[in-house]
Amino acid sequence: MPSQGLGLAPRLRYLAGRARRIDVGSVLERAKESARDHGKWTPAVLADMLWSAGFRQVGFQDYVDYDFAILSRAERATFMTHPVSNQLSQRYDHPDYRHIFQDKVEFDRVFSDFLRREWMVVEPGNADAVRRFAEKHGTIVTKEPVGQAGTGVHRYRAAEIEDWDEFHRGLLARGEVLIEEVIRQHDHLAAVCPGTVNTTRVTAFFDGEKTHILAMAQKFGRGAVSDQMTFGGFYTMLDENGKAVGPGYDSHGHVHRTHPDSGFPIEDFRLPMVDEVAAFVDEVARVVPQVQYVGWDIVVTPEGPVLVEGNWGAGVYENKPSVTGIRTGHKPRYRAAIGF
Ligand SMILES: Nc1ncnc2c1ncn2[C@@H]1O[C@H](COP(=O)(O)OP(=O)(O)OP(=O)(O)O)[C@@H](O)[C@H]1O
Ligand SMILES: [Mg+2]
Repeated sequence: MPSQGLGLAPRLRYLAGRARRIDVGSVLERAKESARDHGKWTPAVLADMLWSAGFRQVGFQDYVDYDFAILSRAERATFMTHPVSNQLSQRYDHPDYRHIFQDKVEFDRVFSDFLRREWMVVEPGNADAVRRFAEKHGTIVTKEPVGQAGTGVHRYRAAEIEDWDEFHRGLLARGEVLIEEVIRQHDHLAAVCPGTVNTTRVTAFFDGEKTHILAMAQKFGRGAVSDQMTFGGFYTMLDENGKAVGPGYDSHGHVHRTHPDSGFPIEDFRLPMVDEVAAFVDEVARVVPQVQYVGWDIVVTPEGPVLVEGNWGAGVYENKPSVTGIRTGHKPRYRAAIGF
C-alpha cells in the first residue's frame, strides 16, 4: 500500500521534508539506547535507524521499542510501525467524520449506548448539577475534550470539594468540561492494579461488512487516574484468547515482569470475556462506518465490556522481542484484513 503508491519525485520530497524535521539529538539518544541495550556499535545502529526511517517506514521510537537492532530483515517486515499506521488512518478514516473521535464530548454523545455509565457536560450556570452528579457518584473523572495527548484526564472526590461554585469555575477555566462516572472494572483487572481503570486497546478494521481485530494490548496503570504512559502506565500484548504473551513494558525502557505495586505476574494475566469483547468491538465499529481503522479503548467490567474512547489515529501497540522472546509482529494480520 503506502510507498508503492508514491512516485519517485514525491517520495524524495517527502524524505527531504522528513530529514529537515529530524531532531538529531533525540535520534542519537535513541541510537545510543538501542546500542547499549543490545550490545551493538552506536554508529552502526544510528545508520540503520536512519535508513530504516527513510526506506522502510520505521519510526525512530518504533526501532527502539520493537528491538529492530536484533531483528533480521524478514522479522522486521512483520512489525507494524507508526508511519504505516498513520497512512492507514489517512486512507481509511474519512476526514469528515474524524471530529467525532477527536472531541470527547461529541464521542460520548454519538457512542452513548456503549459507555454504560453516566456523564455530563459542564456549562456556565450548572454548578448545582455538577455537585449533584459528583455527590451521587462519590468520585468523578473529568476530561479536557480535545487534543491533550494523554494528559487531559483528572479525578476528584466529592468529599474533598468545599466550594462548588469555585470548583465549577475551575473546571470551566481549565477546559475540563466533560465529567464521567468512574468505570468499575472486572475483578481480574483490579487484581493487577485496583487504583487505575486498566483499559484494553483493541485495534480493529471495519471493511464495510466485517470487523477485523488486528491486535489487542492490555494497558496497566500505577494507581493514577489514567493508565497512559504519561501517568507511568505500561502494556503487554494479548493473544486471541486474551492471554498476555509476556511481561509488560513501556516506551521509556522499563520492563515489568510483575506489576510494581501489586506484584501480579503480568505474563499470567488473562482478559476475561474475550468473546464478548470481540462482539462489542464489532458493534461499535459499525456506528461510524466511515472511520474504518480505529484503536478502541475498552474496559471489561463485571457486566461486560464498556467503551472509553476510539482513536482514529490508532497508533501502534506491538510485541517487544527482547521481553517476550517472540520475534514477529502483527503486520501480517493488518495486511490480510486491509489488503496492502
Ligand atoms: N470514566 C472513567 N472512569 C475511570 N477511568 C477512566 C474513565 N475514563 C478514562 N479513564 C482512564 O483514563 C485513561 C485515559 O482516558 P481516555 O482514553 O479518555 O483519554 P486519553 O487516552 O488520555 O486521551 P487521548 O488519547 O485523546 O489523549 C483511560 O485509559 C482510563 O485508564
Ligand atoms: Mg485512551
